[in-house]
Amino acid sequence: MSHYKDLKKITTNTLIEMKHSGEKISMLTSYDYTFAQIVDDAGIDVILVGDSASNVMAGHISTLPITLDQMIYHAQSVVRAVNRALVVCDLPFGSYQGDSKNALISSIRIMKEAEAHAIKLEGGVEVVESVKRILSAGIPVMGHLGLTPQSIFKFGTYSVRAKDKKEAEKLIHDAKLLEEAGCFAIVLEKIPAELAAEVAEMLSIPVIGIGAGSKVDGQVLVLHDMLGMTKEFNPRFLRRYLNLKEEITKAVGKYVEDVKTLDFPNSSEQY
Ligand code: KIV
Repeated sequence: MSHYKDLKKITTNTLIEMKHSGEKISMLTSYDYTFAQIVDDAGIDVILVGDSASNVMAGHISTLPITLDQMIYHAQSVVRAVNRALVVCDLPFGSYQGDSKNALISSIRIMKEAEAHAIKLEGGVEVVESVKRILSAGIPVMGHLGLTPQSIFKFGTYSVRAKDKKEAEKLIHDAKLLEEAGCFAIVLEKIPAELAAEVAEMLSIPVIGIGAGSKVDGQVLVLHDMLGMTKEFNPRFLRRYLNLKEEITKAVGKYVEDVKTLDFPNSSEQY
């Protein structure tokens, strides 16, 4: 068991303290009890119940189809497993856009039914009213700017965002607005490292990057990608720490062979 188990629970304040002390924040996604228990035990600071569950768990081509009920189911399973990490749950597409009352109701459902510790939503100026309304109920909010996958059909591509001056200026403006509105942290996805560094320097809340370079306050990856389970997804920013797809394929193949050849179960594996 990891020594991290003995350390105190991570809160939104811990993350802000980490930024100010220069300790980097580690964040990974999880969507189920078993993985969340392993990830928490290994010492992760933040677990994101990401709407990437729509791709990773359900096989959709985008994050748009996952529902609030499905996100709550995933978050419930994760929260049951976690002792130390801060659990942040994504508000799914359609559960908050354009209507701050709806955003508040969706967030309350996540906090009440899943007992998550915070919510995350995508966007800047477009969602500021919702951020304020959610915060008015005492629910911590994490922002998400840059490549925001819920807008993929507007972008038309998963390529790097905010490369031109106009989009970079909007991103900086949005980041300031989210901080002023009271977000406790912001995710920056797939933007130039220099721009991400500028935003992290400018804000007093933590900036957590994915494909945003090293000069931010923390890093997040999708668990199944970094474990090497999703081989078809190959962005430059992804470091694979395991080749789990190959390992699992080998193990399942061996099991099939053992069943067919009557090697499994042997005499000590029966009653
Ligand atoms: O849903 C998700 O996994 C995310 C991360 C990529 C930040 O939002």
